[in-house]
Amino acid sequence: MKPIAIASDHGGFAMKEVVKSVLEEANIPYKDYGTGSDESCDYPDYGAPAARAVSDGESARAILCCGSGAGMTIVANKFPGVRAVNCYDEWSTEMSRRHNDANVMALGERSLDVGEAKRLIRLWLDTPFEEGRHARRVSKIAGLEQSHETAI
Ligand code: RB5
Repeated sequence: MKPIAIASDHGGFAMKEVVKSVLEEANIPYKDYGTGSDESCDYPDYGAPAARAVSDGESARAILCCGSGAGMTIVANKFPGVRAVNCYDEWSTEMSRRHNDANVMALGERSLDVGEAKRLIRLWLDTPFEEGRHARRVSKIAGLEQSHETAI
C-alpha cells in the first residue's frame, strides 16, 4: 500500500498529529512532509511536496492541514491529477469522495475539534467513489488540465 502523504503548516501542526493517530490506529502507512513544529512557516512549502507526491503517483492520497484548510486546498489543486477538497463537515467530506473522487483532504485545525476531525478522517478514508456519471465529470477535469497545458 502506498503511503498517504501528510503535511501541515504551523496552523495545522496539531491537526497533523491527530491525522497520524488515526492512520496509525488503522495501520495505514503515511509519509510526513512536515512541518515539524508549531513555529510559524508558509503552507505552500509543505503542502506542495505532499501534493506533488499524489500528482506523481508516489501516494494515492494526501491529507493536508492548515488553520482553515483553504490554503492547503488552493496549493494542492495546482498539481495535475490532484482533486483537493476542504472537508469541514460530514456532508462536504462524504461528497468529496462519492462525487469528486477527492484524492486530497484538507482540514482546518481552527474550525474542527479533535473528535469531529477524527470522524471526518475515517469517513473520508472509508467512503468509495460512486463512479458512473461522476466518473465522466471527473474525467472532464483531466481534460481541462490538458487543454490548459496546450494553451500555454
Ligand atoms: C496561518 O496563520 C494560516 O493563514 C494558515 O494556516 C491557513 O489557514 C491558510 O489558509
